[in-house]
Amino acid sequence: MVTYHKTTDTFTAGTMTLSQKYYTSDKVFEQEKERIFNTYWTCAGHQSRIPNPGDYFLFNLLGESLIILRDKDNQIRAFYNVCRHRGTRICEAAEGKFSNSIQCSYHAWTYGLDGKLIGAPFMKEVEGFRWEDYPLRAAPVEIWEGFIFVHIGLNEPEPFAETYAPLIGRLSQWNMGELKSHQRISYDLKSNWKYVIQNFNECYHCPTIHPLLNKYANYTSAENDLVEGPFLGGFLSITSGGSMTVTGRTCALPLGELDENESQRGYYYSILSNLLLNIHPDYVMFHLVFPESPGRSTVVSEWLFHPEAAKQPDYRPQEAVDFWHETNLQDWHVCELGQQGVESKAYTPGWYTPRESLLAAFDEHYLKVMGN
Ligand code: FES
Ligand SMILES: [Fe+2]
Repeated sequence: MVTYHKTTDTFTAGTMTLSQKYYTSDKVFEQEKERIFNTYWTCAGHQSRIPNPGDYFLFNLLGESLIILRDKDNQIRAFYNVCRHRGTRICEAAEGKFSNSIQCSYHAWTYGLDGKLIGAPFMKEVEGFRWEDYPLRAAPVEIWEGFIFVHIGLNEPEPFAETYAPLIGRLSQWNMGELKSHQRISYDLKSNWKYVIQNFNECYHCPTIHPLLNKYANYTSAENDLVEGPFLGGFLSITSGGSMTVTGRTCALPLGELDENESQRGYYYSILSNLLLNIHPDYVMFHLVFPESPGRSTVVSEWLFHPEAAKQPDYRPQEAVDFWHETNLQDWHVCELGQQGVESKAYTPGWYTPRESLLAAFDEHYLKVMGN
């Protein structure tokens, strides 16, 4: 059992929101691509999406496409979706199952699930061609609590265990690695990716934007236990006595081995570069944030449940899905209004309130990694 060490928030009066260029500039967006998404690890999804050998899905981020697959030895691997013959994108379907190999549809060069080139018509006769030099290009992969992290930069990443040290072992009591995916919903937002993360990091807006959420959670009870650097968040009390669902009841088997406090709280963490995690006593919902352009993002939300939950007669996952789908739409709407406002010539940075200390912490970390 992990013990939480409560950290006191630091909030400096007069901390201001980011200036306009960070939400609108193509140049800043390009810098973010290099300095954040090609430098740090990103989350590609949860391992339950590929439960069996041969299962794969595509992780497409900022123009790159990775094939995330489970190989014959049950190891999760990531390969660039780029044929080593003439560079063709190999897989088009967003997800599926390979039998024993991966074949490019152009000239049928074929790769094993370990990435090795195993077939290339007419190349056996070609002098000097070394098959072992042309495997699919692999991307580094790490698994944390069932979440698959990849590195899409060509430079050497900082070791995962170092960067993610504050998280390793921290949330183990929910057994998130064993959970099963129930549903995934993709949303297109006319908003900068950082606005989505900033909005996630405060519940100051909960009474005004989320009447249902506010009915079942006491936003003034929110306490943060990760307050600086790339990982931010904390928890709040669930006042319905159950969970964050449309009925306020729990809707599935309880997760993991939780103490009394943990089974009455929702835990919310933003985990850079792109994972937003919502942990409840009976399910986990996570968002992956995909920047598309300065003013556009895709958010993919996914609901995970106890592996045995679906066998129970009182399994009602829709109550969790409906709760967050409604809440998400409310959030995405204010993110879009936010984007419209910060694009105006009238926008100048405003003061953060003490209830937005995590946003100030996010901005500070962001500016640091951007080198500003
Ligand atoms: S480009 Fe893939 S086989 Fe030719
Ligand atoms: Fe919200």
